[in-house]
Amino acid sequence: MYGTALSVVKINVLTVPAEQRETLEKRFAARAGAVESSDGFEWFELLRPVEGTDQYLVYTRWRSEEDFQNWMSGPMQAAHRGEQGGTGEHRRPAASGSTLWSFEVVQQAAPKRG
Ligand code: HEM
Repeated sequence: MYGTALSVVKINVLTVPAEQRETLEKRFAARAGAVESSDGFEWFELLRPVEGTDQYLVYTRWRSEEDFQNWMSGPMQAAHRGEQGGTGEHRRPAASGSTLWSFEVVQQAAPKRG
């Protein structure tokens, strides 16, 4: 399989103060929903920490690095402007920090369906 084109995983790691968790989740509930239409997009999950970390993970999977870069340089920025471009108090970031992790998918499996 080495050298075969497999997907890339991009995880945005968000540090979220306890009192900002609800705000963060509400913002994601109202997210743009644009990523779904982006070329090469394969998967998104917002992961809420339960044990072992207190950081939220924004998991995304893409057909290729190029597809991710294309999203980052355009639709991503629009999707991060927030609902109706609100200002002031309302748009203060819920996260106090963020880090981007990048992975290549080496192996994958899905359930066998009868
Ligand atoms: C500067 C650091 C970042 C912060 C604080 C942040 C936070 C957020 C928040 C609060 C939302 C909900 C929508 C909104 O209110 O804007 C959102 C949407 C999203 N974020 Fe980020 N984000 C950051 C960068 C990134 C990066 C680098 C990625 C790449 C994996 C990413 C992936 C996503 C995705 C896929 C959505 C949903 C967009 C859609 O529905 O079209 N974010 N982000």
